[in-house]
Amino acid sequence: MAKVTLNNVSKVYENGFEAVKNINLEIYNKEFMVLVGPSGCGKSTTLRMIAGLEEANNGEIKIGEKVVNNVLPKDRDIAFVFQNYALYPHMTVFENMAFGLKLRKVKKAEIKERVEATAAVLGLSEVLNRRPKQLSGGQRQRVAVGRAIVRDPKVFLFDEPLSNLDAKMRVQMRAEISKLHSSLKSTMVYVTHDQTEAMTMGDRICVMNHGVIQQLATPLELYDYPNNLFVAGFIGTPAMNFFEGVIFEDKDYAQFVGDGIKIDLNDTQKQQLSAYNGRAVIMGIRSEFIQIADVKTNSGQHNNAIVEVIEPMGSETYLYLKINSHSFVAKVEAHNKVVVGQNLALILNAEKMHFFDKETELAIR
Ligand SMILES: Nc1ncnc2c1ncn2[C@@H]1O[C@H](COP(=O)(O)OP(=O)(O)O)[C@@H](O)[C@H]1O
Ligand SMILES: [Mg+2]
Repeated sequence: MAKVTLNNVSKVYENGFEAVKNINLEIYNKEFMVLVGPSGCGKSTTLRMIAGLEEANNGEIKIGEKVVNNVLPKDRDIAFVFQNYALYPHMTVFENMAFGLKLRKVKKAEIKERVEATAAVLGLSEVLNRRPKQLSGGQRQRVAVGRAIVRDPKVFLFDEPLSNLDAKMRVQMRAEISKLHSSLKSTMVYVTHDQTEAMTMGDRICVMNHGVIQQLATPLELYDYPNNLFVAGFIGTPAMNFFEGVIFEDKDYAQFVGDGIKIDLNDTQKQQLSAYNGRAVIMGIRSEFIQIADVKTNSGQHNNAIVEVIEPMGSETYLYLKINSHSFVAKVEAHNKVVVGQNLALILNAEKMHFFDKETELAIR
């Protein structure tokens, strides 16, 4: 068991491209850390530097208390599970799982014991004598994970291990890897581009973009308090809605005014936005905080929008709406009488709004 520390780590590839820019990251002992971000943001490069498969140009990488920059991958005591978990096709499941231990000259009886125990944990006991082509995609993925676990490494590194599975199997394996983490109590670093995977699996999530860490926080901290526009838009489905507008403040009141939209701000927001009077900001609001107004009983402020598309999900319904030329989404109760083309009165929950500086794209708090 070990923590993993990256101090001022950078990676410039030979063609001069800077894939990872001076990142600082401490992954705690026994933590499940997810690195998430769009394709090309530097997740795999970061993971491969921890593994020793890529060399860092700058900075220090530590596993436990030991600086490992000059330690060979095989001596770092890590296990790596890739997206393309190449199993040896001519070997049985048992042999695939035993392979790494054999190389390390572990005694035969111990290999048998460890492989069988791991197979039991992963539900592979019945298929130990089969070859990879006789397994389902999910079983093959489990063998790849088993091959990593059986070595009992200090740190597990996963690079998009579920991307090749179908949607249902992905959800199932997601839960299995989480369970595995609880039972093994080992340090795991998990790379994915899928924010749902990140949210559901991570103890903490490190959001990256363009080789830079955008925010490092627990799933709900990220959801509730995104540091910037990128994180706000990346985490959560449907994505957060954004409206450009201007803050107008007076002695008695403060308002956010956008194209076809007007919101009264509360005292806290008025204070937060006091430096922004007359200035352009971006307002963000998640779909669940936009609700259909009951015009009869609700005397408060409404904003009107045209209903463009209705998507019933069963447990809730997504309404795709438009104010002038600006599109956004509301997540409303499933059973409603809304129709396409309707001019619908909405309540945007002012308490739940986020404001971002239009220039810096940083959250205004
Ligand atoms: N060997 C390489 N040479 C040059 N550029 C590379 C190399 N490997 C990756 N890159 C570039 O570095 C960036 C980050 O890559 P990667 O870490 O694989 O991203 P991610 O895993 O987040 O999708 C990408 O723009 C990619 O094209
Ligand atoms: Mg990658």
